[in-house]
Amino acid sequence: MPVPASYDAIILGAGGAGLMCAAIAAGRGRQVLVIDHAPEPGRKILISGGGRCNFTNIGAAPDRYLSANPHFARSALARYTPQDFLELVAKHRIAWHEKTLGQLFCDGSARQIVAMLLDECAAGGATIRCNAPIHSVDHADGRFRVSAGEMEAEAPALVVATGGPSIPKLGATGFAYDLARRFGLKVVEPRPALVPLTLGGEEALFRSLSGVAAPVEARCEDAAFREAALFTHKGLSGPAILQVSSYWRHGQAVLIDFLPEVAPGWLREAKRQRPRVRLPALLGERLPARLADTLAERIGIAVELGNAPDRKLEEAERLLAGWSFAPSGTEGFAKAEVTVGGISTADLSQQTMEARKLPGLFAIGEAVDVTGWLGGYNFQWAWASGVAAGQAL
Ligand code: FDA
Repeated sequence: MPVPASYDAIILGAGGAGLMCAAIAAGRGRQVLVIDHAPEPGRKILISGGGRCNFTNIGAAPDRYLSANPHFARSALARYTPQDFLELVAKHRIAWHEKTLGQLFCDGSARQIVAMLLDECAAGGATIRCNAPIHSVDHADGRFRVSAGEMEAEAPALVVATGGPSIPKLGATGFAYDLARRFGLKVVEPRPALVPLTLGGEEALFRSLSGVAAPVEARCEDAAFREAALFTHKGLSGPAILQVSSYWRHGQAVLIDFLPEVAPGWLREAKRQRPRVRLPALLGERLPARLADTLAERIGIAVELGNAPDRKLEEAERLLAGWSFAPSGTEGFAKAEVTVGGISTADLSQQTMEARKLPGLFAIGEAVDVTGWLGGYNFQWAWASGVAAGQAL
């Protein structure tokens, strides 16, 4: 048995959370080892935001995160804000812009964010080892021992930063959950989130609208998002749908308001003002023609509006304001941007991300049961939780 190399902390996973944690801990003089089985660090950062990385959202606040404990993320998010990340970005002279809804992107490339994190790690002397599949993790006498690739290492602190299982082809695994369970931590059932929904049965007919997009309000339970929806050859996607997918559970309906901007009574008003107009043409003024035709056909008002009873028009308005879809499922972890659920926050300190039952064990980033909305929120959680743990190592 080789003598294991000794560190102050071993971080499993060189994604956004792991690298940020390493940079902070190394900057505080800690000897840090980061281990990842992927060939390069930060692969999800590299592909994020269409290659430009939507690295934070200026609206990042705890109510934009899903978790069994909605208050858990509050402390870390308050102590490391989007402004703090922007200061780091400015220090590294990375140009950025706001796209929409507070979403901040690099002007250039997501590679700049990875390079920035690696520079910060290097400045503190952190060691990063990629291409290192983890063979075993053990804990005895207050020390964690990790065997990975050709390495044996040990430390009094172990940080689980291996993310969730979304997009396995990028090296994502459920490793964090297995490890957490082994060390006595609970795991909130993981589900694919920010993921397209599939339509089956009668609703499969909507798949013929594949490629059609429209600005809508999508709702599921108490969550409502006013953004674009997109019909796909499998069902529904687009930002509004991805957002509600995080709240959706099998058997629930997703409601779509196709005309969120119109005032109640608009169809009866149109009947009075333009009695000769027909529904497909009227809807076509506000929606893509193929969608307008499909909705009008389903509503079943074939006559000119002037000849349609008010009762029918009221019913049509109700349908258009809350079209009920019953998704058959999601496109799964293969297409999910993130994972809802994960290591239970009940077992972690919200100040430091350290396990209550096992001092020295930490969990950060997507591995934890904290999931943000679409739009830079998930990276902000990765940075904030990474900093919280990094300051405690
Ligand atoms: P992350 O998954 O990034 O890192 C985990 C690391 O652990 C990986 O490097 C992995 O290789 C390693 N690992 C996993 N299992 C292992 C094992 N068994 N052994 C060793 N290593 C292991 N968010 C956002 O805010 N803005 C955006 O623009 C986007 N865009 C985006 C696009 C796409 C296509 C996806 C899939 C996701 C996004 N996200 C996003 C979400 C964001 O990428 C995600 O929330 C963070 O990367 C999570 O960071 P973590 O460091 O927690 O995990």
